Amino acid sequence: MASQPDVMDKLVSLCKRRGFIFQSSEIYGGTGSVWDYGPLGVELKKNIKDRWWNAMVRSRDDIEGLDAAILMHPRTWEARGHVAGFVDPLVDCKTCKGRFRADKLEDARCPQKPSKQPGAHDACQLTEARNFNLMFKTYMGALEESASIVYLRPETAQGIFVNFLNVQQSMRQKVPFGIAQIGKAFRNEITQGNFIFRTREFEQMEMQFFVEPGTDMEWFEQWKQLRMEWHLALGLSPERLQFHQHGAGELAHYARAAFDVTFDFGGTLGFQEIEGVHNRGDFDLTQHQQFSSKKLEYYDQLNNKRYVPYVIETSVGADRVTLAALVNAYREESVEGEDEGRVVLGLHPSIAPIKAAIFPLTKKDGQPEMAKGILNDLRMAFPMDYDESGSIGKRYRRQDEVGTPFCITVDGQSTTDQTVTVRDRDTLAQDRIDASQLKSYLAAKLVG
Ligand code: GAP
Repeated sequence: MASQPDVMDKLVSLCKRRGFIFQSSEIYGGTGSVWDYGPLGVELKKNIKDRWWNAMVRSRDDIEGLDAAILMHPRTWEARGHVAGFVDPLVDCKTCKGRFRADKLEDARCPQKPSKQPGAHDACQLTEARNFNLMFKTYMGALEESASIVYLRPETAQGIFVNFLNVQQSMRQKVPFGIAQIGKAFRNEITQGNFIFRTREFEQMEMQFFVEPGTDMEWFEQWKQLRMEWHLALGLSPERLQFHQHGAGELAHYARAAFDVTFDFGGTLGFQEIEGVHNRGDFDLTQHQQFSSKKLEYYDQLNNKRYVPYVIETSVGADRVTLAALVNAYREESVEGEDEGRVVLGLHPSIAPIKAAIFPLTKKDGQPEMAKGILNDLRMAFPMDYDESGSIGKRYRRQDEVGTPFCITVDGQSTTDQTVTVRDRDTLAQDRIDASQLKSYLAAKLVG
């Protein structure tokens, strides 16, 4: 059950107004369930991806990075089972021409008024359910014929499986070890809406950890805990995070165990999956061995034995975590002594798109010149903003709304003693410090 308020409409509007996220091809009426990241959104998502890469690749000796191609050999998807089985059951309504997932009718809304679930109006005429493959198809080469069909990958994971031995041998890794990558994936989703929660083009951050069979459940437990800790360190509130265990009915036929990390998006969306942690056994490597006729075994030199490793997968959506971080951060509050309240994005400083903004209090007395000098000193170290228009209160509000953790003001005193004030977004406390100390002051506050 969701316990949090619904802030989605307000967020969609803020994201557009302040340059985080725009509807794709908006001037043509938009593309369904596809979004573009604007100047602040691209920084926010990049910061989230960097945190993941640092935690999963840079800080560990036993995980290697990879950037595999989106277009893979079509046999990959036969081996994975996606050509035959990556389907959703679909129904059409002959009256309103709406198209809905047959297994999610209770979550869908018929366009007829009053708002009800599809099939609930007398006029609704739903067709029989038919299976709809979620993979986008295209053609490779000049001829548009069935022999040249390729797919836009619906998950990044398979690029890792087919490169298992390339990475293991070139990097002289020993099992247990992992391969991680961040990249685009594509699914022709039927269910639309909920902003960037479920989109047709999205980014995944996936890691496959190859282990000796028999040690898999131990590693599964470890990765489950590590991934939850990562979401907490990102600043997502503990009360908004929960594990959801896949029961027998939900578990894929090859999966030995599966948990989702779920986040409470508030309102009717409530708790939803943001990451899956799966024990996939040897399913993928065995399938690729069979379909490619190439051995994908690991040779354990120490014990002189060969085996197909089991795989623990951690799979998280970069866009879904970006949405979770935005929902988690959004707050409206009153300010003591002021009539107008403020909207704040209380983002973890490490993912805030702008780390500090610099304001001259007035446009005279050398203040803009000093402020611009500080901007030039700091901008290669931190993403910065400079603003000299409007009252200082308005300038603070503009930065609060996009989550800037620090605002630096150059005032009358600054030009005489070279000190500035630094205001903290959350506590509103102001420190007066020497301008020459700003770089180390901000660096210390932004770690973690
Ligand atoms: N390789 C396993 C895999 O792809 P998944 O549960 O289908 O598993 C993993 O996807 C994660 O990818 C999800 O937890 C979610 O964060 C993200 N994801 C999946 N489909 C998505 C979509 N249509 N839009 C945005 N994110 C999506």
